Amino acid sequence: MIIAVDGPAASGKGTLAEGLARHYRLPHLDTGLLYRAVGLAVADREDGPDFEPAAIAAAQGLDPAQLADRDALTSAEAGVLASKVAVIGPVRAALFDFQRSFALQPGGAVLDGRDIGTKICPDADVKLFIQADSKARMERRARQLEKRGLVVDRYALYHQIEARDARDMLNPNGGFYKAADAHLLDTTLLDIEAALRAAIEIVDRTMALKAGDR
Ligand code: C5P
Repeated sequence: MIIAVDGPAASGKGTLAEGLARHYRLPHLDTGLLYRAVGLAVADREDGPDFEPAAIAAAQGLDPAQLADRDALTSAEAGVLASKVAVIGPVRAALFDFQRSFALQPGGAVLDGRDIGTKICPDADVKLFIQADSKARMERRARQLEKRGLVVDRYALYHQIEARDARDMLNPNGGFYKAADAHLLDTTLLDIEAALRAAIEIVDRTMALKAGDR
C-alpha cells in the first residue's frame, strides 16, 4: 500500500504521515528533507550566480547520510532554502528516482511532500491532501520551534510561511496541487490525535472500497 500525503508548509502532513506509517507499519519518507538537504548544501551561494548549477550538483550527489541532522534540516532557514532549490527542474528530476524507489519497496510506504500524489506516486493507493489556515500553521510551527528552546518572532514566521507558500504555488516545475483523486483533510480545528483518526478512517474506507471493487 502506498499512501501519498501532500499539503503546504506546517499543515501537519509530516506528523500525520508519521502516525500513518506507525499505524500501518510502513516505512515513511519526509520528502521535504531531501529539498532541505540540497538547500543547506548550497546555503553559502544563496542568490549568487552559481546557485542553480551548485544546487543541481548537490541534488545529483545527495547522500542519504545528509538527512541525519534533523535540527539543521528542520530550521526555518532550511525551509526557505529548500523552496528556492525546489523551483529548479533538474533538482526535482535528480530527486525523483530516490523518492520513487522508496515508494516502490515491497510492502509499500508512506511519503509526504507537495507533489507525491501528482508526480511522484500518481498511482498511490490512497492520497491525502492536508490543509489548515495560515495562522494555525504558523502557530504550530512556532510551538515546534519553541519546544526546541528557540525564540520565535510570530509575525516574521507568518510572513515567511506565506512567502514560501507563494513560491511553492507558483513553482513552474511543481505539481503542488491537490490530485483529483486525493481526499481533502482540513486540520485547522483538529489536534494531532483527531487528525490521525480522521486520516486512518479515510485510508481504511478507501482500501475497503478498492477491495470491494476487485
Ligand atoms: O515539507 P517541507 O516544509 O519540509 O518542504 C520544504 C520545501 O521543500 C517546500 O517549501 C517545497 O518548496 C519543497 N518541497 C518540494 N517537493 C516536495 C517536498 C518539499 O518542492 N515533495
